[in-house]
Amino acid sequence: MTEKGIHTDFKDNMTYGEYLRLDKVLTSQERLSGHHDEMLFIVIHQVSELWMKLILHELNTAIESIERDELPEAFKMLARVSRVQTQIIQAWDVLATMTPAEYMEFRDSLGRASGFQSYQNRLIEFALGYKQPHILKIYEKDPELARELTAAYHAPGIYDVSIRALARAGFSINPELLDRDYAVTYQGDATVADAWLQVYQDVDAHWDLYQLAEKLVDIEDCHQQWRFRHMKTVERIIGFKPGTGGSSGVSYLKQMLEHQFFPELWNVRTKL
Ligand code: HEM
Repeated sequence: MTEKGIHTDFKDNMTYGEYLRLDKVLTSQERLSGHHDEMLFIVIHQVSELWMKLILHELNTAIESIERDELPEAFKMLARVSRVQTQIIQAWDVLATMTPAEYMEFRDSLGRASGFQSYQNRLIEFALGYKQPHILKIYEKDPELARELTAAYHAPGIYDVSIRALARAGFSINPELLDRDYAVTYQGDATVADAWLQVYQDVDAHWDLYQLAEKLVDIEDCHQQWRFRHMKTVERIIGFKPGTGGSSGVSYLKQMLEHQFFPELWNVRTKL
């Protein structure tokens, strides 16, 4: 121990680096091109994936809490999700410091690797209820991962469990929705629209469901902001070139912006 009371002898204690497995984390930034700016490119992806890990941890537990009608617990987690989302939205500002010329120096080293293959991004989309059949094929190379994704693909998303919570609270919900095929992306339903309208028309009577709805809107809003900033940053860096993952690039990313996860929660605003 030093005279300031700080421990310096760790022969018998776990250190900060050991606890955080920094030996693994900080040796995982291998620049394939050796180019200076590739470090930014790797770190920004890894940081985003770490935040996605926390988003999934919170979202999946929130889904379980909503199923148990433990809404205050879910609100805490959902509030954290939106705060994390603001971090990954702001991360685009850092990436935007990379110019097209700098990116072109190492883009070829990426081969066909692309964020399109980010399985955590897909798990988040599944938890938000967006299921596209062709996506699972990407992960066939890794059977364990493929199993995890397939299970999540067939599981109810956060909006499905919220609709079930509406039904338990006494709203008249189309019974087919309460045990539907969750592998199909939710398309909207008049009974759900009507239930949310009643919630928003008398928020004092339905305060918890109203809070739940607004937390979901926060998350969708942030998710769309993230997608928009990704699309604009990509346009800024590669223009309209095709992506390394094989898509049309910016045009593909623009199309993805059109999907709404919780359609009735957006439509209800017009009706009020
Ligand atoms: C120079 C930086 C970047 C460029 C040029 C870029 C480009 C693209 C392109 C063109 C796509 C469409 C698929 C394809 O054809 O590859 C894509 C998808 C994607 N990228 Fe990026 N990206 C960049 C940075 C990032 C970062 C930092 C992340 C954070 C994890 C990320 C996550 C994703 C995700 C999740 C998708 C799938 C989107 C979807 O299918 O809806 N990208 N990217």
